[in-house]
Amino acid sequence: MLSIKENETLAVIDRGSPMGDYIRRFWMPFLLSSDIPDSDGEPVNITLMGETLLAFRDTSGKVGLVQRGCAHRNASLFYGRNEENGLRCSYHGWKYDVTGQCVDMPTEDEASNFKDKVKIVSYPVVERGGALWAYMGPPEFKQEFPEFEFFNVPEEQQYISWNRQECNYAQAIEGGIDSAHSNFLHASLDAYWRTESWLEQGKRTGNLRDMYHARDQHPKFFAEDTDYGVATGARRETGEENHYWRYNLFLLPFYTMPPSGARQKFFHAFVPISNGVTARWSFVWNLDRPIPRSDRQLWGRGYGIHSEVTPGPEHYPLRNEANHYLIDREMQKKINFTGISVLADEDYSVQESMGVVTPRMNEHLGTTDVGIIKSRRRLLREANELRDGKEPFAAANGNVFHVRAGDLLLEKNADWLQDPKAKEVMKATW
Ligand code: FES
Ligand SMILES: [Fe+2]
Repeated sequence: MLSIKENETLAVIDRGSPMGDYIRRFWMPFLLSSDIPDSDGEPVNITLMGETLLAFRDTSGKVGLVQRGCAHRNASLFYGRNEENGLRCSYHGWKYDVTGQCVDMPTEDEASNFKDKVKIVSYPVVERGGALWAYMGPPEFKQEFPEFEFFNVPEEQQYISWNRQECNYAQAIEGGIDSAHSNFLHASLDAYWRTESWLEQGKRTGNLRDMYHARDQHPKFFAEDTDYGVATGARRETGEENHYWRYNLFLLPFYTMPPSGARQKFFHAFVPISNGVTARWSFVWNLDRPIPRSDRQLWGRGYGIHSEVTPGPEHYPLRNEANHYLIDREMQKKINFTGISVLADEDYSVQESMGVVTPRMNEHLGTTDVGIIKSRRRLLREANELRDGKEPFAAANGNVFHVRAGDLLLEKNADWLQDPKAKEVMKATW
């Protein structure tokens, strides 16, 4: 439970607000490289952190992220001409390069130096891992790029998707941290009812998750602060001399890394588009082998953590609140817990239904919510500390992101975070 004031501090990301300034200390993804493929191609309207921006790829292939309105009289540069390393306003021809500098002002006398004094807002952009990342914080603050293991595997072993989600970023993050919901929201009815065939499957596959989820449906949750954010551990009884642990990581300021397969990993970024809209990103990487084309095609059509989206750079999910996520009540009776066919869309159905900003003053948190409590407290604490002049450690130390989520069996008296076996599971390779 948060107070009205704390809830507002957590949710509001406008420039000048505590959380708005805090999140701007970090790099954030805003488009796939393939969303804006062509030099001198069509610019893309971007809203990021509540700011009205425009991305364009210039003649040399560099991407600029600049304010959308022209400095002259505020016409949208979206309608401009992308030509010869700059964007020319369609109203009176003023032209800007990727740094936002006005480089041509054909309405003024040639001898005038007025153009040199005109610059529109622009943010540094880097292109990495198939995505475009912006830094919207103060230039004098030294920020580092987050060194996720994802960036260190070959391109064929990476897959990225993103889509809009119609709610505040913080409740999307809280959905990512909350591993207790998979037993319900993402469960087949076989798993939910614990049918014989499901229990058999656990024994047959030898998969730790399948085996121990069947044995213990009431995991105990633990959470601790770390240098990257907060680690949450779910502990299950095995009926033997050890415990089964699953680790779910929250990484500052908006990433979650749920436990996944042993060799194929993923993390999400929940990037604020505005106070009420979030871009949910999914970064998948395989440690050993290329991701097959068949998987890419399947995921591209909406499968698992990837939603099916509209073509083009806006990435609206096709299953959304307006069509009730295409819920199928027959499917809900016979096949799965929700009647919604794609896991990602199951997440939106609940997270968006909580309201654009969920009223955390009214909630009743239980024992499964310890990771959520610690993570939101951590965000609030760091945002308030920045107000007092303390820069966020994780933003300036990209190597803290070099971690993995995972699962393992641990001796009953072992330290769930510090035990060498636990550290090994969470260690990324350089
Ligand atoms: S409004 Fe853009 S050049 Fe006049
Ligand atoms: Fe989920």
